[in-house]
Amino acid sequence: MSENSNPSHIAIIMDGNGRWAKKQGLPRLSGHKAGMESLKKIVRYCGDNNIENLTVYAFSTENWKRSEEEVSGIFKILVIYLDREIKELHRRGVRLRILGDYSIIPAPAREAVENAIELTKDNKGLSFNIALNYGGRDDILRAAKSIAEDVKEGKLDASDLSEELISSRLYTGDIPDPELIIRTSGELRLSNFLLWQSAYSEFYFTDELWPDFTEDSLKAAINEYKTRKRNFGGR
Ligand code: FPP
Repeated sequence: MSENSNPSHIAIIMDGNGRWAKKQGLPRLSGHKAGMESLKKIVRYCGDNNIENLTVYAFSTENWKRSEEEVSGIFKILVIYLDREIKELHRRGVRLRILGDYSIIPAPAREAVENAIELTKDNKGLSFNIALNYGGRDDILRAAKSIAEDVKEGKLDASDLSEELISSRLYTGDIPDPELIIRTSGELRLSNFLLWQSAYSEFYFTDELWPDFTEDSLKAAINEYKTRKRNFGGR
């Protein structure tokens, strides 16, 4: 059996920050801060190891249901992360992209994100994609609406619809589908993440909580992926 090569696109559901904090007797936001430290290491590792795309689920369309304190805290942590990391990521050729409608996130986070996108837009290294106010169903719905508008305006014919056309209208547009999706913290769900894009992804679940996830944890996931046989419905 031939081995897979390294995945070119890894997507991660960073779960377990709250439980990590609880275990230490700390407030939930301390868990998210520790999660930021894990993310820092993983982004740098991917950038240094020729991974072309890393997508992380940072804030879902459902996460607005959390307390106001936790929601605003997560966006503050995002600002701190970008303040501390973006120059170094830029130096390493990382391009930052956002998947999701970030027009409605708090202004300081929106501005930090816009500046980071602008600064890194011509970089050719790792594409680091943060899913923010992202939902897989919302992604597909928006693509469907944009195609319907074009059909209504006569720019497209209904017979032009194809899987490629739908893929191109998703937030991931020109980003290839993830070969490997990792979820931490022992939960075995996709939770509305990359629904269309995950059709043929390999899934890797680990009991480790996200703040405990290290470069070695990622290497273990990649090694496991490499042993799997993928046949995309063929033989
Ligand atoms: C899931 O853990 C985590 C989140 C909803 C937020 C992820 C945020 C970070 C890792 C902070 C840094 C992010 C960026 C982009 C800098 P949970 O709170 O659902 O954990 P639980 O299930 O144990 O309660």
